Amino acid sequence: MSSISPQQLAVVVSEAISAISAATTGDELKQVRTQFVADGSPISLINATLRDVPVDEKAEAGKIVGQARGEINSAFAAREAVILQAEEHVRLLAESVDVTAVPSRRRVGARHPLNLLMEEMSNIFVGMGWEVAEGPELENEWFNFDALNFDEDHPARAMQDTFFVEPVDRHLVLRTHTSPVQIRSLLSRELPVYVVAPGRVYRTDELDATHTPVFHQMEGIAIDKGLTMAHLKGTLEHLARAMFGDGAKIRLRPNYFPFTEPSAELDIWHPTFRGGARWIEWGGCGMVNPNVLRAAGIDPEEYQGFAFGMGIERTLMFRNDVADMHDMVEGDVRFSQQFGMVI
Ligand code: PHE
Repeated sequence: MSSISPQQLAVVVSEAISAISAATTGDELKQVRTQFVADGSPISLINATLRDVPVDEKAEAGKIVGQARGEINSAFAAREAVILQAEEHVRLLAESVDVTAVPSRRRVGARHPLNLLMEEMSNIFVGMGWEVAEGPELENEWFNFDALNFDEDHPARAMQDTFFVEPVDRHLVLRTHTSPVQIRSLLSRELPVYVVAPGRVYRTDELDATHTPVFHQMEGIAIDKGLTMAHLKGTLEHLARAMFGDGAKIRLRPNYFPFTEPSAELDIWHPTFRGGARWIEWGGCGMVNPNVLRAAGIDPEEYQGFAFGMGIERTLMFRNDVADMHDMVEGDVRFSQQFGMVI
């Protein structure tokens, strides 16, 4: 038989409590638990000796041991709560998301504004029931010049500063305009034909603020029975208004192209131009020359039509106030992103 000493109990309790309050992390707390709270710890060993306490002392001994265990357990629970809360706080701080932070998403790029503009212009024509056609950029000289009524030694042929491709006897050129798609469309389609041909063209210009040797054009051709200059004008007026607003107007001034007769220079009244509304030279147009129709196997007595063409770079410059053509060819995505459509 043994009895339990309250002094010994007090020592065990105070050792346990000072170990518990010294613990600062969950791991330390675990160790303290094994050493001072769990099975095998001094307090649990004392508890086990209750068995051997004489019957008349049992109630009192049980009470003081129970109190001592209670003190240790509640000190442990209190400390555990404090440590868990502190650790959770640290974890939440580490996991927190700053919703105002600048995103680090990798940018993939943006569609080029020239493509967006060509698509927008094409869509205006698709809305009128026209088709969109494409042709090769490496073009046969016949399609680029001969079929379009350029004589062998026509000054206009030299006028278009052409990249001829070697060997010269293959008669291949980098197309100088999208007009060869007129001929290709007439040869490959049933009449009537209403086609726009957006695309890249080449001329031997030096790159500067207003020229680039590789640029884009949009050509349109309509061949049907009874088409007149009035249809041409109405079509271009619709295009101008769709692109520049209801205040836009167009004007035609006499000009010369081998593939149209009569031919005209196309000006647009740009109602929201940066420096104030004004006339701007936009492109060329005219009634398709009967020789061109004949080259495509069409009887000009039966079918007539009109054609027009304009530069896309130039259009982008005065429509969107782009001062320098370098920006369009250098491929800096920041230029493209100003036009929207980040993908
Ligand atoms: N192809 C001409 C050019 O490049 C533009 C044009 C097209 C003119 C169709 C009249 C008719 O300048």
